[in-house]
Amino acid sequence: MKVTYLGHSVLLIEEGNIKAIVDPFIKGNDLCTISIDDLTDITHIYVTHGHDDHIGDTVEIAKKNKALVIANHEIAAYLDKFDLRIHAMHIGGRTKFDFGSVKMTNALHGSGISENGNMLYGGNPCGFVIEINGKKVYHAGDTGLTYDMKLLEDENIDLAFLPIGGNFTMDIEDAVKATDFIKAKTVVPMHYDTFELIKADPQLFKNKVKSSKVVVLKVNESMNV
Ligand code: NI
Ligand code: MN
Repeated sequence: MKVTYLGHSVLLIEEGNIKAIVDPFIKGNDLCTISIDDLTDITHIYVTHGHDDHIGDTVEIAKKNKALVIANHEIAAYLDKFDLRIHAMHIGGRTKFDFGSVKMTNALHGSGISENGNMLYGGNPCGFVIEINGKKVYHAGDTGLTYDMKLLEDENIDLAFLPIGGNFTMDIEDAVKATDFIKAKTVVPMHYDTFELIKADPQLFKNKVKSSKVVVLKVNESMNV
């Protein structure tokens, strides 16, 4: 499985015919150097919560690629009016797919959807444990530190993406604790440097983590799991 970091919390996950994107915040994302037209043959779109920097360009990408959108029930219900292919899940649920399985995990955050100046209810925010051909990637979404992350140790996660930018999510100190709870083989920091409020030094995070290997991915950099 090849995982590419596209900046902020955007991941591209590729394995065989699978080409999945998580939290496709492309257009307003100053860190992201690709355009929506560069995203071809997308099969799945995972949305962790309703905030603009995560639901992002889901509708446009889903329409263009006929991709399956995987999100919580409330976001799925909101997206239904755009006539997309949607799979609704909820916190704690795991579903088998042809490629493996997806588990929706909880996140401590909000999930409101901004539309025309209104804030619509977007249910609970989440993370995903995505298993493809026996390898597991965890995308934490936006979240504060929670003891519930200790439960993720049992998932035997190969690769975990954790927010480190602070203000809206865990900062470096809390992300280090989360790393100790989750015990993933490899951890990659995300959700930093996109805005002034979430400036953080990923090397500092790397230096502080003792319980997992940390890889700092540059934007557009890939790694194999
Ligand atoms: Ni958010
Ligand atoms: Mn965010």
